Amino acid sequence: MDKRYKLALVGATGVVGEVARKVLEEKKLPISEYVFFSSCRSAGKKLTFMEKEYIVRELKEDSFDEGFDFAIFSAGGDTSKKFAPIAASKGCIVVDNSSAWRMDENVPLIVPEVNSSEIKNHKGIIANPNCSTIQAVVPLKVLDNKYKIKRIVYSTYQAVSGAGIKGINDLVYGNDEGYKLQKFPYPIINNCLPHIDVFLDNGYTKEEEKMINETRKILNRPDLKITATTVRVPVMNSHSEAINVEFENNFELDELINELKNAKGIVVQDDIKRDVYPLAINATGHDEVFVGRIRRDFSVDYGINMWVVADNLRKGAASNAIQIVEELIKKDSLTK
Ligand SMILES: NC(=O)c1ccc[n+]([C@@H]2O[C@H](COP(=O)([O-])OP(=O)(O)OC[C@H]3O[C@@H](n4cnc5c(N)ncnc54)[C@H](OP(=O)(O)O)[C@@H]3O)[C@@H](O)[C@H]2O)c1
Repeated sequence: MDKRYKLALVGATGVVGEVARKVLEEKKLPISEYVFFSSCRSAGKKLTFMEKEYIVRELKEDSFDEGFDFAIFSAGGDTSKKFAPIAASKGCIVVDNSSAWRMDENVPLIVPEVNSSEIKNHKGIIANPNCSTIQAVVPLKVLDNKYKIKRIVYSTYQAVSGAGIKGINDLVYGNDEGYKLQKFPYPIINNCLPHIDVFLDNGYTKEEEKMINETRKILNRPDLKITATTVRVPVMNSHSEAINVEFENNFELDELINELKNAKGIVVQDDIKRDVYPLAINATGHDEVFVGRIRRDFSVDYGINMWVVADNLRKGAASNAIQIVEELIKKDSLTK
């Protein structure tokens, strides 16, 4: 009989956790046992999953003693910092959605379409990149392979769901009388906030720094010139990004578009004569990265602009993490 696995979902009651449960139901992986963890706040809560009822358990230091094959963590950086090494020390492979381990040189930072071959280098922890980085590197890797990227300029338009349940509440209830903002420093309704995560001494935000550093690590281009402005917008779900890319080599635009069309995980939606381009409302619920408005940047020798949209809770978090688990299962079955 084929091997069946045991998986822990840490942060199962959060926004990413909820989508992860949905994606796990859709994927039907060879997993025979699931355990859902949260903090003490949601412990005891009942969840229906694959038509069965589960009681959420409080995550504790001995939670991994019972033996797990995999754990997906979506419970914030502090929880990952403390509990991912404990899980890994008990033989469980952790796929971590937080930023805690992403830049650790012993931790592979994985987007399966881009660098799945690096999964094998893990020492118990694998990091899932930042949501805005994941959707960017899927098309950028294709273009880097073919034309060698010289410089990237990111401008993002990020949905409130990327800020978890508190961010969603600020959009949904922000106009209610007496409502006190839970996540953002200013109202998000009718507003754009050029401020995601904390400000750093160099004037950038941590989100901008994450996009720059994580892109370099995933593309394995440590010296690549990248700059970023990340902005929170009043959109419920799916991040949109205007990406300007300059190449070392010349290209034919038709050929470049075909490279993207033929790549795994990308859907090109680009027909301006019929007003066709990627939209957040259409990307939500899908795992692909949608690319459009692909056009030459006439201000440089070899460059383009493109508009890249993806569901930040699916491809940007839950689905990417579950794809990594799928790859681990595939590799495990090959070694049997
Ligand atoms: N939202 C996105 O688009 C996105 C994308 C990529 C990565 N991420 C990352 O994924 C993580 C979760 O984000 P989210 O948006 O789902 O946040 P969220 O909606 O606030 O959910 C947080 C989850 O973590 C749990 N949790 C908090 N402290 C815990 C602890 N000490 N022990 C165990 N569980 C604990 C919460 O449990 P309770 O119910 O008990 O509070 C809840 O299940 C974060 O690290 C975030 O950076 C989010």
